[in-house]
Amino acid sequence: MSLVTVIGTRPNFMKMAPIIESIADAHISNIIVHTGQHYDDKMSKVFFDDLQMPDPDIFLGVGSGSHAETTSKIMVEFEKICIKNKPRLVLVAGDVNSTLACALATAKLNIPIAHIESGLRSYDNSMPEEINRILTDRISDLLFTTEASGTMNLLREGLDKEKIYFVGNCMIDSLKKFLPAALKLNLCIKYDLLEYEYCLITLHRPSNVDNIKNLEKLTEMLNTLSKKIKVVFPIHPRTKNTLKNSNLKLDSDIILLEPLPYIEFLGLMNKAKVVVTDSGGIQEETTYLGVQCITVRDNTERPITVDIGTNHLVGSTPSKVLTTLENILNGDIKRGKIPLKWDGKTSGRIVNIIQEFLSKD
Ligand code: UD1
Repeated sequence: MSLVTVIGTRPNFMKMAPIIESIADAHISNIIVHTGQHYDDKMSKVFFDDLQMPDPDIFLGVGSGSHAETTSKIMVEFEKICIKNKPRLVLVAGDVNSTLACALATAKLNIPIAHIESGLRSYDNSMPEEINRILTDRISDLLFTTEASGTMNLLREGLDKEKIYFVGNCMIDSLKKFLPAALKLNLCIKYDLLEYEYCLITLHRPSNVDNIKNLEKLTEMLNTLSKKIKVVFPIHPRTKNTLKNSNLKLDSDIILLEPLPYIEFLGLMNKAKVVVTDSGGIQEETTYLGVQCITVRDNTERPITVDIGTNHLVGSTPSKVLTTLENILNGDIKRGKIPLKWDGKTSGRIVNIIQEFLSKD
């Protein structure tokens, strides 16, 4: 067996789908392993349908838990798969617990690792993702970067430049492929919205939503915001749980939705006036689409979206979010550019490099 490809959470699916397709096109044998970190249909199965991904060959079904629980359960199960199948290379993507867990189990078996979306750094170790990124990069053999900052960070950390490949952003491969389908859904009619006259919200970062005080501030902010523009909020299970266990109430004007399938979310994002988010990937997708994005975080590991894209990094102080939104509504927008190699061809570049790697091995 040549490859094992790991997926486990919602943001992994759109990154890995085009790579899995390119691997199949190149006739390279590949076992797809789903860790089960995300398991609800709305967080997992719908993405397989939307992205036309083959079902995973192996489902570990680890489910939710503390960081140590999830990471260790995945490691134990993934080690068995590597021992049984002896892959020549394991592919992991992004920065979630599944990424680090599988990378760690793989490295201890002296099997090479390819890390997709390597080198991104927020320089904020209070984010679990930052720890996952640093450690995964440190033990990977092929480091695929999406933007120049990723390459610079890896070089600064002393990683071997021979291992680093600036290939662009494979999530944009999925976006380009499925945007036409998203446009056909006529979502503004479905949700009774006017094109470019609504604000799409996503909030799920533990620093924003796990702490009731912070969530209270953000809830008030959303309620104020909804008086200025129509608000659509597909809510992540983590945020939903905290809200349910609190007395906080969102205004009835806000359109509250379950987590959306990939294509539907893409369609809503594309026609939004502005997106307010604390997600990583959405900062990139809005930059590609040229949609204004207000990022409710103090830092970003994706600086290119601020430097040349449409991302406004404002922190989590509600007044700053509201002022930025007002400025955008008054026409003070960022006219972004699409970053280099975000061209829909990244997965092909990655698979070419993998083929070369396998031929030398
Ligand atoms: C994880 C990633 C985060 C990513 C996010 C995207 C880590 C450390 N974090 O955060 O980087 O941005 O996914 O969604 O890996 N839950 C469900 N159903 C599911 C999955 C989760 O109800 O299918 C609930 C559970 O209560 C769970 C909670 O959400 O405890 C958090 O899930 P978890 O995977 O730990 O972290 P996310 O917040 O989803």
